[in-house]
Amino acid sequence: MVTSWQGKVALITGASSGIGEAIARRLAAEGLTVILVARRLDRLDALAGEIRAAGGQAQVIPADLAQEADRLALFNQVGRKFGCPDVLVNNAGFAYYGFTDRMSWETAHALLDVNVTALVHLTRLFLPAMLARRSGRIINIGSVNGVMPSQGTALYSASKAFVHAFTAALYRELVGSGVTVSVVLPGPVATELFDNSEKMENGFRIPAEKGAISAARVAGSVWSLLRRPHRYVFVPWYWRWTALAEAYFGWAMDLAGPLLLKRTKEKGFLQS
Ligand SMILES: NC(=O)c1ccc[n+]([C@@H]2O[C@H](COP(=O)([O-])OP(=O)(O)OC[C@H]3O[C@@H](n4cnc5c(N)ncnc54)[C@H](OP(=O)(O)O)[C@@H]3O)[C@@H](O)[C@H]2O)c1
Repeated sequence: MVTSWQGKVALITGASSGIGEAIARRLAAEGLTVILVARRLDRLDALAGEIRAAGGQAQVIPADLAQEADRLALFNQVGRKFGCPDVLVNNAGFAYYGFTDRMSWETAHALLDVNVTALVHLTRLFLPAMLARRSGRIINIGSVNGVMPSQGTALYSASKAFVHAFTAALYRELVGSGVTVSVVLPGPVATELFDNSEKMENGFRIPAEKGAISAARVAGSVWSLLRRPHRYVFVPWYWRWTALAEAYFGWAMDLAGPLLLKRTKEKGFLQS
């Protein structure tokens, strides 16, 4: 068990907005040194400035995590400056809302690169050093979409299902090693995700935008997980029902799909 988090180092990907930014603020407020990673340097610098002004410690490392060269450069830079971080938060990600047949391959490729490949690569890069010193925490940000895949988010749901399965298997590999890995499974969260993600057509409904919780609430769950590691946590807890619902009532979701998603008439499918 880690007895004090003061001065520990946490690397947070996707820290320039939303959930990653909230996690960075929370961990810095709890006394950790945070390494902020994303592409938008201006946002990272502004966040680091606010954290330092509040008495915290923050370091900015810009990186496009879709690029293998950037991931390796990040690993080397962190190694030179901090050695191995105590906490790795794999949070960076984005979504695509629309019919899969209309999604460009470039979008699909980029989504897999960020949501899946970068998460595996960073884990693979930092895990050996964590194991060697028999301590470390890896927190992966999944989604209830990975537990109950929904129409209109096929690839995003699949990327998050990967995160869920990867975390579960790795957790079992790591038992007794001193290193833990957890997946955080939020329902809808009020962030820029819905604005930043490509939507195929006007009026495309994203039911998830309704009833979203704050990113700070997810950050609170991450902080709890660091102190009391579990394999997974739903945020809020009541999204647990999705696991049972998918197993026993997935057929109802199959039927409800057309109500949530509409194709235009010329595509010869459902239309309003
Ligand atoms: N919002 C929700 O309802 C919700 C629910 C469940 C799970 N999640 C998950 O939570 C995580 C954070 O999303 P969010 O809701 O906080 O959305 P967000 O505000 O759009 O944040 C996404 C973060 O990912 C970073 N990112 C995206 N592509 C990147 C790349 N190629 N290289 C480096 N960083 C990249 C973005 O930074 P730059 O653009 O500056 O690079 C940004 O900091 C994602 O994994 C998402 O799937 C979100």
